[in-house]
Amino acid sequence: MDFIDLKAQQSIIKEKIDKRIKSVLSHGKYIMGPEVLELEEKLANYVGVKHCISCSSGTDALLIPLMAKNIGPGDAVITTPFTYIATAEVIALLGADTIFADIYSSTYNINPSAINGAIELAKERGLKPKAIIPVDLFGLPARYRLIKEIADKNNLFILEDAAQGFGGEIRGIKAGAFGDVAATSFFPAKPLGCYGDGGAIFTNDGKLANIMKSIRVHGSSSDKYENIRIGINGRLDTFQAAILLEKLEIFDNEIMLRKKIADYYTLNIRSKLKKPLIPNEYVSSYAQYSLLANSNEERNKKMVYLKSKDIPTMIYYKKPLHLQKAFNSLNYSVNDFPIAESISNSIFSIPMHPYLTRNQQDRIIGAINDE
Ligand SMILES: Cc1ncc(COP(=O)(O)O)c(C=O)c1O
Repeated sequence: MDFIDLKAQQSIIKEKIDKRIKSVLSHGKYIMGPEVLELEEKLANYVGVKHCISCSSGTDALLIPLMAKNIGPGDAVITTPFTYIATAEVIALLGADTIFADIYSSTYNINPSAINGAIELAKERGLKPKAIIPVDLFGLPARYRLIKEIADKNNLFILEDAAQGFGGEIRGIKAGAFGDVAATSFFPAKPLGCYGDGGAIFTNDGKLANIMKSIRVHGSSSDKYENIRIGINGRLDTFQAAILLEKLEIFDNEIMLRKKIADYYTLNIRSKLKKPLIPNEYVSSYAQYSLLANSNEERNKKMVYLKSKDIPTMIYYKKPLHLQKAFNSLNYSVNDFPIAESISNSIFSIPMHPYLTRNQQDRIIGAINDE
């Protein structure tokens, strides 16, 4: 059994993908070809925002908006310690400081009531709080209504990290539409993944969209060789765009299949493990289905047992970011974010992708329910 089975999906759309790839080979516009523009239009429509800027990875999708907002030394950016390194890495790359705020023990997303404390801490350290990056962890959008209230009061720019959340919703609004700008990733294992690296940025702000397009291509202007700011090489390959166009066609159905599997897990897993909590009117894209054990020992024992039954599991995330060596210079220590630390100790994820058969689901549930 695979943790994520990309082959099953490929077999469904193989002919269409082959056709798309052939078409790119015949027109030969490998960089910023017509598929890139077609995809950006379709993604913007899907999310319900005015502008989509595709780019080379989810990491660049986070970096480019921060560059566009001139985030740099002396600035503070607030985020969760319970996320993938990329969320905070981009802040450090620009010379700004990350100030972490702890998470909810129920959803594992950033707890808005911890944000005010983070703002105060930033000021005490002589930093200017400029932005916040909430993360839609495991596919569940963060609590944007409350985050926005705090951001508005404190003049903070909101950058939604929807790398895992693409396909999720709150009250009919799609992930990617929250915040001033949103970033997503098309890494193959993500809910909408390509066959390599890729990402996209979403916004309704036309002026910022133009700046971000310029940063994506070396800070260029309408004249490619007239560079008006420092940028990066952050373009999405035409091949990846062509593949994503076909994957987007089946994406809503895949989100529905993921939800069905998650509901079946939730209904039938009977052990003492805590199952995901999806608040009322929220839709998760179920990038992961994660279970919380009562202790580190219980989690590790369960994972060993599942492995003996040939059921793969993963830990997202073993070590919260404030305890990672890469962030030593931020001077955080153990117990600074007790909820993130405790969840890291006991969480693990079980196989989740749209093409898990009912037989596989029953095997997974049966093995988990064996005490
Ligand atoms: C929460 C989060 N942010 C950012 C990223 C970075 O995306 P990418 O791997 O496409 O650079 C990821 C992907 O792993 C992620 O899970």
